[in-house]
Amino acid sequence: MKKFTLIGPFKQLLTMSGLPIKGALQDHQLSIIENGGIITKDEKIYSVGSFLDLEKEAHDLSAEIIKIDSDMVGLPGLIDAHTHICFGGSRANDYSLRNAGKTYLEIAKSGGGIWDTVTQTRKSSSANLVKGIIKRANRHLQQGVTTIEVKSGYGLSVEEELKMLIAIATANKAIDADLIPTCLAAHMVPKDFKGTPEEYLSEISTTLFPILKKENLTHRIDAFLEEGAYSEATIATYFEKAKEMGFDITVHADQFSTGGSAVAVKYGAISADHLEASTETEIQLLANSNVIATALPGASMGLGCNYTPARQLLDAGASVAIASDWNPGSAPMGNLLMQAAVLGTFEKLTNTEVLSGITYRAAAALGLKDRGKIETGLLADFIAFPTTNYKEILYQQGMLQPKMVFKKGTLVVG
Ligand code: NIG
Ligand code: FE
Repeated sequence: MKKFTLIGPFKQLLTMSGLPIKGALQDHQLSIIENGGIITKDEKIYSVGSFLDLEKEAHDLSAEIIKIDSDMVGLPGLIDAHTHICFGGSRANDYSLRNAGKTYLEIAKSGGGIWDTVTQTRKSSSANLVKGIIKRANRHLQQGVTTIEVKSGYGLSVEEELKMLIAIATANKAIDADLIPTCLAAHMVPKDFKGTPEEYLSEISTTLFPILKKENLTHRIDAFLEEGAYSEATIATYFEKAKEMGFDITVHADQFSTGGSAVAVKYGAISADHLEASTETEIQLLANSNVIATALPGASMGLGCNYTPARQLLDAGASVAIASDWNPGSAPMGNLLMQAAVLGTFEKLTNTEVLSGITYRAAAALGLKDRGKIETGLLADFIAFPTTNYKEILYQQGMLQPKMVFKKGTLVVG
């Protein structure tokens, strides 16, 4: 017997239905069901509509009815499409040094930067890495984030990258949120590798990639395209091999200098993330492609630099997702809703554009067709905020927290 449950009424139910994947969005396009309800069947959404209508349907289905505080706004579970929440140590010292005027390069040269986190992560036991991921993912879940992408990239050898991806898989089994793993073995050139960057990546693609496939540890491959990390030339065989093996590709692109988004388009990447340095050329390139442009306002806040030109990207016709980039170096805050709201303020984004960026457009950045909207057949991932006006959610810039979080039809917060 399938188990049906009716949940509601929600004063306003934002389903995000009917909105396009690309381009600018106005708030009048938002589909809002007044006094809405959701019928779930096991882990999925069975029907969505007015609570009154659904009550009759629920009766016919012998559904359980969960009546909630009717002064709430419901929306899909939030999706964070870019994080690095598997790591050891802290980079509080880097943060202080940056704020005291040192550059990223100076800090990296004096023992800080990504390599410091690689050293700390390698020193961490697997159990400690798992514990750290669970702690951060559960904090995200409390804030309404039901799907979280998590990258490796602080291992930088076959064994250490595997250790991270296995830790992510282990944590995933222990928590309610879904973790979507990504291999970022091309985060920087490991300082202890005896050989060229190409030789390092060749070892990764010939040895690690087949294990990732066989053990089903990820279907996503990422690289940091930047001066001092990887270039279009050094990354070529790594991405070619990844494509050949059927992995999805995603790119850290145009963070400090341009070039990455062209590589993303060239390899048909699913997303190009960062884009703080993108100019009109890159904006047009992305807008004319199917690559999702993922803004990472948390990195702009952590580094004190400009935001991704989200307004220009949307106006040019691109699809913009918004993610936290939660990591110990550039984005230590890890509050997706707050960062998305603030990006909206600085970039002049409508409520609909911001909410799309952390729901269905973020799902598209992860290639997930089963979530991001409240629609029949999709996963029953949805959240409820204690307000009667959806505009309060972004207006309160992350300080209004969801009162209830449903993951795959189960109440996991509230
Ligand atoms: O997405 N840009 C490169 N990688 C990370 C930063 C990682 C770190 O500093 O530890 C990012 O911002
Ligand atoms: Fe990142």
